[in-house]
Amino acid sequence: MTVGNSRALAHPNIAFIKYWGNKDPQLRIPANGSISMNLAGLHTQTQVTFEATLPSDHVVINDRRVTGPAYERVNALLDRVRKISGRDEFARVISQNNFPTAAGIASSASAFAALSLAATAAAGLELDQADLSRLARTGSGSACRSVPGGYVEWQPGDSHESSYAFSIAAPEHWALTDCIAVVSRTHKPVGSSAGHDLADTSPFQASRVSDAPRRLEICRQAIRQKDFEALAKIVELDSNLMHAVMMTSSPALLYWQPATLEIIHAVQAWRKSGKPVCYTIDAGPNVHVLCPSEFAEEIKEELNHIKGVEMILSAEPGGPAGLLEP
Ligand code: PMV
Repeated sequence: MTVGNSRALAHPNIAFIKYWGNKDPQLRIPANGSISMNLAGLHTQTQVTFEATLPSDHVVINDRRVTGPAYERVNALLDRVRKISGRDEFARVISQNNFPTAAGIASSASAFAALSLAATAAAGLELDQADLSRLARTGSGSACRSVPGGYVEWQPGDSHESSYAFSIAAPEHWALTDCIAVVSRTHKPVGSSAGHDLADTSPFQASRVSDAPRRLEICRQAIRQKDFEALAKIVELDSNLMHAVMMTSSPALLYWQPATLEIIHAVQAWRKSGKPVCYTIDAGPNVHVLCPSEFAEEIKEELNHIKGVEMILSAEPGGPAGLLEP
């Protein structure tokens, strides 16, 4: 018997100032604040149905029944929703990404943002955006940034209450495109949850974290003033700092492939020749190449010529997580 049913959609996001390392790993309270852009066109759609007759939560992602650690993360978030709402039924969760899972684009942000909205609505709750962002954060840190729309800042805070994300500019504020150069479709050797736990083993993490407020302010200003040159510099610095921490952790995390470096060099050369373009890289080998949208076709064409680029996805600023007709 169905007792509550809702469907929601959320976009993944790309961080301009990265989240890497937690002050509190259980609650996913980050070591530093971060800023990102939601990615329109790419999304996760998730349907949650609480059913009185289910013996346990039933989770299907991209047509596959999920068990193990991925199941446990979904189950833990549903437990939170049951606790807040007072419901005790188990849920059927059906989730689908419209971007190829094999493309190596992190889907946990869009997945936990969509799950948080669909599950709370199905449980009869109407959380405001900050509460929804806090809930999504407990599933995957960066998911809290996929709840609000456009350009988003995650205020790190030091408690469940004070750690959530909010929009700092609407999607229409600035037409940027993220051209995602996929260089490898294999699964990451070390996922981000395990990676965050290693951050403090790098001697560089403390200085990366203590300098974060300065980088955040430069990034905020660059977005506010639509200053691409300033954005490019701070985005690349921040990505390099995070990868320096990753590479100097114990054990070391080296996510780059030869094609990753090819693209970095190409982007640097294009910028030197006057093209407004910059790169940023998450916990994987793919390169997110950012540019004002009017340059996107030209940049994608150039990226296509680089050896090792398997596919290119592109996305402009996306809106907030939202409910769909069930
Ligand atoms: O939310 P998580 O645990 O998947 O961590 C995301 C980490 C990075 O993508 C590398 C950086 C970021 O801020 O998105």
